[in-house]
Amino acid sequence: MSATAPVGHEPIDVEAEIWLSPGDPRRSELCRNPHGFYDRLRQHDPVYRSPDGRWLLTSYESCAQMLGDRRMSHRMLRVPAEEQTLAHRIFMGSMLFQDPPVHTRLRRTVSTLFTPRAVERVRQRAADISRQLLQGVRDGETFDFRAGPAFRLPVLVIAEMLGLPPEDFDEFRVWAEVLLFLDEHEHPAPRELEWADGIARGALDYFTAIIEERRRRPGDDLISGLLTADDGDAALSDEELVAMCVVLHIGGHTTTQDLLTSGVYNMNQHPESFAILRRSPAAIPTAVEEFLRYESPVGVTPERVASEDLEIGGHVVPRGSVVHALLAAANRDPAIFQDPNRFDVTRTPNKHLAFATGNHVCIGAHLARVEAQEFLRVLTSEFPELRVAVPEAELEWIDSYLHRGLKTLPVRWLD
Ligand code: HEM
Repeated sequence: MSATAPVGHEPIDVEAEIWLSPGDPRRSELCRNPHGFYDRLRQHDPVYRSPDGRWLLTSYESCAQMLGDRRMSHRMLRVPAEEQTLAHRIFMGSMLFQDPPVHTRLRRTVSTLFTPRAVERVRQRAADISRQLLQGVRDGETFDFRAGPAFRLPVLVIAEMLGLPPEDFDEFRVWAEVLLFLDEHEHPAPRELEWADGIARGALDYFTAIIEERRRRPGDDLISGLLTADDGDAALSDEELVAMCVVLHIGGHTTTQDLLTSGVYNMNQHPESFAILRRSPAAIPTAVEEFLRYESPVGVTPERVASEDLEIGGHVVPRGSVVHALLAAANRDPAIFQDPNRFDVTRTPNKHLAFATGNHVCIGAHLARVEAQEFLRVLTSEFPELRVAVPEAELEWIDSYLHRGLKTLPVRWLD
């Protein structure tokens, strides 16, 4: 088979290699529609060992099993302490990349701040912000939904929760870029590291000044809550505190932005869904779960490493193996979801894995749900339909195998 055959016509090993190679030009074709590849991979072997030795899990069962297994380590893969720069410590020093007992200690300091009950307090605010953002768009105007409301809503909500001035949009945006970059590039070039370090220095200075201010004058924001988190040995060091602020701040930017953007895009592809939600607002939470399942913003979890030999789906995964859970594939596993490639805003049950499971299960899950539900409620009850304003062929998907989202979504109000 020729090396330039269209993807989907290659042997599965070749296709997997393309998907795992950031520089390969054919990868964008796979990023544009990875679901066919995921289906082929699951049919071939739901616990697949790629030619470069990485394990790719595409069935619901294998992903859930791996994510719930404490012998899978986040930590083992990360850059050794002596090679870590400021960017690693600030962007990768958070709980997301730690194992117990450090992970347990860090997570405990924030878990009570993100319970469904605590997050319900921002529901009304999420609705008000959604309304303001949508009112800000003039009739007849074409605007980028992804860079506009879809980005601003999660950023404004979390900035308010942390008690940060909302003006610093550009800084917030670039932090999210660095986190994603370091997540996907384990060995960045010196110039890239210099860039990331400069931004980490900015984030450190930014949060250090705010933390000092909150120490002097505590408020009822999350940072003040973190400073008073007194759980015996759980108190955070200054650098841990900044890493925590960073991950809480940006953990929900791109993810919620992609959730809203893919949601609006898929409602366009399935126009009956807008009418269903307008008629039955009670179905909105169900629709948000379908957005999460159908186009999971974190398509693939960051790598885990097996800390000992273990068995997944009848395969022995040897100690030291790198393993990815392909959440987007698990969420379309026909063994769990009936007619999985159908977008259905009324789907129940819908026990998807878009927020993962196990000890790293997304701490912001309820917050993301509240934001998306309120946004949809305001959109469907108070505004006309949003229509995609460019032909399908002009839409591009982000060139990443971890994240799934459109680069831009030009839309306008339906007349
Ligand atoms: C649609 C929106 C979101 C999606 C799809 C999503 C997805 C995920 C996933 C899959 C994980 C687990 C990663 C792993 O196992 O390696 C995770 C963890 C995490 N998420 Fe989210 N997330 C979203 C929104 C948010 C929001 C709004 C926040 C802000 C508070 C947030 C903060 C975090 C943090 C701090 C972790 C690390 C938890 C830990 O390691 O214990 N996420 N998220």
